[in-house]
Amino acid sequence: MNRRDFLRTTAGVTAGLLFLRPERVFGYEANSAIRMALLGCGGRGTSVATSFSRNTTAQVVALADMFPDKLAAGRAHFDELNASLHRAAIDSKLLFHGPDAFKQLADVQGVDMIQISTPPFFHVEHLEAAVASGKHVYCEKPVGIDVAQARKALEIAKRVKPGQSVDVGFQCRCAPPIAAIQQKIKGGALGKIGLISGYYYAPASKEKVREGVGKDEYRLRNWLWDRALSGDILVEQNIHIIDLCNWLLGARPLKATATGGRSILTHAGDCWDNYQVEFTYPGGVHLSFASTQFGDYMFEAGLRMFGEAGSANVPYTGPIKIMGGQAWAWQDSLATGTDTGKFAANGDFNDNLAFADRDKDRTFIDSIVSGHAHNQIADGVETALSCMLGRMAGYQKREVTWEELLAHGETYKLGMDLKQFA
Ligand SMILES: NC(=O)c1ccc[n+]([C@@H]2O[C@H](COP(=O)([O-])OP(=O)(O)OC[C@H]3O[C@@H](n4cnc5c(N)ncnc54)[C@H](O)[C@@H]3O)[C@@H](O)[C@H]2O)c1
Repeated sequence: MNRRDFLRTTAGVTAGLLFLRPERVFGYEANSAIRMALLGCGGRGTSVATSFSRNTTAQVVALADMFPDKLAAGRAHFDELNASLHRAAIDSKLLFHGPDAFKQLADVQGVDMIQISTPPFFHVEHLEAAVASGKHVYCEKPVGIDVAQARKALEIAKRVKPGQSVDVGFQCRCAPPIAAIQQKIKGGALGKIGLISGYYYAPASKEKVREGVGKDEYRLRNWLWDRALSGDILVEQNIHIIDLCNWLLGARPLKATATGGRSILTHAGDCWDNYQVEFTYPGGVHLSFASTQFGDYMFEAGLRMFGEAGSANVPYTGPIKIMGGQAWAWQDSLATGTDTGKFAANGDFNDNLAFADRDKDRTFIDSIVSGHAHNQIADGVETALSCMLGRMAGYQKREVTWEELLAHGETYKLGMDLKQFA
């Protein structure tokens, strides 16, 4: 019986431990820790791997990143975190950098799980190597930035082995108030759904500056501004709300029309800074979605869903509630409806999303130790394609159907040779 089998067969014991305080769990159950590796030691990767470490039996034992400075910063952070949790420092043999770092990480023995937190362009390539290694995988959204990558991801999904768990980073679904209102909506609290209004009004992202870097490294470090690397704001950031809409409706859009552009931003890059998209879902349900990513004065994200018997309000910040015959409200929302929330570039939001990562991480680790493995790749692809549908409608300024999107088979090229960073 290897350690992974041990983890599976001790599912009851270990799953129970997930809900104990970390210091108690690790005090006497160190052998049951999930040994995890982080690929991409940036803001989100560090935040999620820290959440895994604090809230589950997972322990960061290996790190990889394109750039040595990011790897060194990751090592310093996780050595300090591990020490505070009475765990060993990371073995220097389990630190990898350069363009092949993801392959070296996949080849490492004695690692149970890989967390992929690299820029979106690389997700599918990194997912392929991680899935082939047989390790469990937690992959950030989006699963693919173009149709070709999305198709590839669906192929990879078929190669996931029985008992191998693969999650996609849609943590909002696990936020307790959002999970609760989803149950209500699924139970019919709104009656027939007619329309959704979704929004993601975010501040501009900040430039990452490093002295003396060439243009390719600048692009990589400022990947958020780059269509090929990020997929543009609809696919990279707004995807959380579009994913919630798909999930709440239990469907994906059939077609979209859109406008938008780069109205305010003047810095490097080619991503748009605003989108207005009309998605049509089965049954003639419409999602009217708007987003911005500029300025630094506010942050609001969420959706309102309107049905024949009631409406649901699901903001990141402020009351989550249902109005109508089956009125209901989440009691623990902190802010009032007039507050705008605080943006968190690493996804570590407060208020309604405060426990989203914790519960997402626990659910994923539970899927490993219980043997009830997840395979969320196809779901992740469906949401990514939904966003690509809106993006294509925006770029082409016309109605685009799901079939047209797939037939178009758009691909984005990286446009640089990563070997220069070896
Ligand atoms: N779920 C959420 O709420 C949420 C929030 C923020 C970001 N994200 C996602 O997380 C991912 C990372 O975002 P971030 O904000 O941490 O970005 P970041 O730039 O802070 O970190 C990315 C890291 O990946 C490294 N990297 C770049 N290319 C690489 C490669 N080919 N191989 C190995 N390492 C590479 C970079 O050096 C950097 O350290 C993105 O996919 C983003 O969409 C999700």
